[in-house]
Amino acid sequence: MDYLNHFEQLVKKQLERVEAMKQQEDFVDYSKLDKIVIGTVGGDGIGPAITAQAERILAYLLADDIKAGKVELRTIEDLTIEKRAEVGQAIPDSVLVELKKCDVILKGPTTTPRKGDPWPNIESANVAMRKELDLFANVRPVNVPEKGLDWTFFRENTEGAYVLGSEGVNITEDLAFDFKVITSQGAERIIRAAFEFAKKNDKKRVTCVTKANVIKTTDGKFLDVFKKVAEEYPGIEADDWYIDIMTAKLVDEKRRKDFQVMVLPNLYGDILTDEAAEFQGGVGTAGSANLGKRYAMFEAIHGSAPRMVDEGRDIYADPSSIIRAGAMLLNHIGYTKEADKLFKALDICGQTEKKIQLTGRDTGATSAEYADYIMETIEKL
Ligand code: IPM
Ligand code: MG
Repeated sequence: MDYLNHFEQLVKKQLERVEAMKQQEDFVDYSKLDKIVIGTVGGDGIGPAITAQAERILAYLLADDIKAGKVELRTIEDLTIEKRAEVGQAIPDSVLVELKKCDVILKGPTTTPRKGDPWPNIESANVAMRKELDLFANVRPVNVPEKGLDWTFFRENTEGAYVLGSEGVNITEDLAFDFKVITSQGAERIIRAAFEFAKKNDKKRVTCVTKANVIKTTDGKFLDVFKKVAEEYPGIEADDWYIDIMTAKLVDEKRRKDFQVMVLPNLYGDILTDEAAEFQGGVGTAGSANLGKRYAMFEAIHGSAPRMVDEGRDIYADPSSIIRAGAMLLNHIGYTKEADKLFKALDICGQTEKKIQLTGRDTGATSAEYADYIMETIEKL
């Protein structure tokens, strides 16, 4: 391989991305749209089963505005591993066209092929969607009231170790290279989003997490931008930690309660949010928002659990994560009352009342029964 040429092409593309970011408009104002189109994507494995339940709940909460034509729920087909393998694309072109006709998207888990799988080595659909729709802010809240935890992670979603994750080079049989990219624009927009969130939600502290002592150029830039943006928010405490000690502090009962908003490059965000979600009951209970200025996508942060489907247990899959993603979607497009009710119902059904339980098999409730339980709970609020 002509690796110098390969590297030159990568640099060119990234410089183009910087230029595109400079031209970017501001966030969409959903209240100004005639109609908000919500696309739902089932994905793979248990995805279609759980997404269908989240869709039922959205249809129930938005019934009046759907009838009035102000909101449309639209099912987007074909973002499946079979179709993606067939056309050899992380997101088939035909699907991308449909996604771009939506304003916001609710997405079930999609299979990411790994070495040894029967699938061709296509890029993760999640990663591709984040890149294609420029969804730069991955917002992952973790809330455990009884432990006093109330964290919101702002994970950078379009650069870092991920943006060229499939573009690494084997220079020789013995020498492998990957690339990590941070841009001033990319760092600034996520860091600003974290501070704006803190300001709006009365949070007093924003923490930046990097490994800038070792990864000096890229993480160093991220941290420099953080310090600069922080100056514009004098009422908010801004501090920075390295990822290793941060990972440890999340299990330190005395210190962890003090963290509120955390902003971090892509890969650190990937790892730290899985750890954080564990305190809330695991990745299956977390939802995640992927926000860009034009589009936004909401997803469960767990995988597609193909084994559950093979064993015929997909009807018992836990839909809480994708339903929580649905509540975040409602919040984002301005249906804050409906979102609040749904968040409350999720807490009552999953943490306090627990009238029915999901076990992932026929000893517990089905996903549909659980969605019914949530809707009945909302009725009583
Ligand atoms: C996540 C997932 C994805 C990621 C995978 C499926 C590519 O782990 O959303 O955190 O690494 O971003
Ligand atoms: Mg992850």
